[in-house]
Amino acid sequence: MAGLNRRVVLAERPTGMVDERTTVLEEADVPEPGEGEALARVRYLSIDPTIRTWMDDAPGYLPPIAIGEVVRSGGVAEVVRSNSERHKPGDLLFGFTGWQDYVIASEAAGYRDLPSGVSPTMALSLFGVTGMTAYFGLIDVGRVKEGDVVVVSGAAGATGSTVGQIAKIKGAAKVIGIAGGPGKCAWIVKELGFDEAIDYKSEDVAARLRETAPEGIDLYFDNVGGAILDACLAQLAMHGRIVLCGAIASYNDRSALTGPANYRNLIIKRGRMQGFLILDYFDRLPEGQAEVARWLAQGKIKSVEHVVEGLENAPDALNLLFTGGNTGKVIVQV
Ligand SMILES: NC(=O)c1ccc[n+]([C@@H]2O[C@H](COP(=O)([O-])OP(=O)(O)OC[C@H]3O[C@@H](n4cnc5c(N)ncnc54)[C@H](OP(=O)(O)O)[C@@H]3O)[C@@H](O)[C@H]2O)c1
Repeated sequence: MAGLNRRVVLAERPTGMVDERTTVLEEADVPEPGEGEALARVRYLSIDPTIRTWMDDAPGYLPPIAIGEVVRSGGVAEVVRSNSERHKPGDLLFGFTGWQDYVIASEAAGYRDLPSGVSPTMALSLFGVTGMTAYFGLIDVGRVKEGDVVVVSGAAGATGSTVGQIAKIKGAAKVIGIAGGPGKCAWIVKELGFDEAIDYKSEDVAARLRETAPEGIDLYFDNVGGAILDACLAQLAMHGRIVLCGAIASYNDRSALTGPANYRNLIIKRGRMQGFLILDYFDRLPEGQAEVARWLAQGKIKSVEHVVEGLENAPDALNLLFTGGNTGKVIVQV
């Protein structure tokens, strides 16, 4: 096929935010699909904090992105030409597309159909890895139950905003969100139904947790790590649970990886702290997707998306996650 494939590749390993030295836009030939494969045009990219961790030359749950390699990310692509009976032109597929215009898609490469009736952006937000991380993290790992006092950090972000809404649906007595800035704090209360919001940029988080959760935190969903995790550990209720979902405070700065000083409270309060990865739940995605579809139809949950235009802006879109420039799920419309 004539034409060019624009690709954003990792040119250097970043030490902080990504910039024009670390990620570079280049052009290559459009790839040719082999037997049983399809050529697909990438339409939307899922912008996730973990992409930044894959750029480090450090052990992780997936291998680091190699220098010169297209930046890895999830995405939705539309089949434009097919040598496969499984895929026909116009089909929308989800997979690890990476930051580029065209991909070779096949079942063997892990591409799957979007959930039926779901828009491409919602397939990346509420019905995608993000929404399902909130769903399985809260329900399966955190075992949320009626009457719980639930705290979530990154509360105006993609995962956190969904966690807070699901906690309310599941009958939490109180949902407290921790977010950066008065605008985000007002938004999670007014628009998403959180009971309380703590602005970690201008308030004393530990003091506000004592005030808003005087009987202790039954369930803390941690998207951030660092000092906020420590403050939540200090305010844990008896048999409290902590779900370790992410540690964004240290992704751009590995020196910020310090141990939680208040971990002894897990002993005193007979608490449980558990990490998880959504990758382990991929077989169960239809179960979570069916449930959020019901909640969406009943008007009980909102999907909030922050769309950035243009493949060339994918690095800036990634940086939004670290400056807090996003509300809800960051998606690049290629
Ligand atoms: N375990 C898994 O399988 C899994 C899957 C998906 C995501 N995650 C994790 O879930 C977390 C949220 O991901 P997401 O995709 O939903 O991103 P997101 O919450 O939409 O965006 C990240 C948010 O983090 C906040 N933030 C950034 N730096 C911070 C800091 N130093 N301290 C406190 N808050 C900070 C920013 O909001 P403010 O304006 O409030 O600062 C920003 O909007 C990440 O840690 C991610 O790695 C884990």
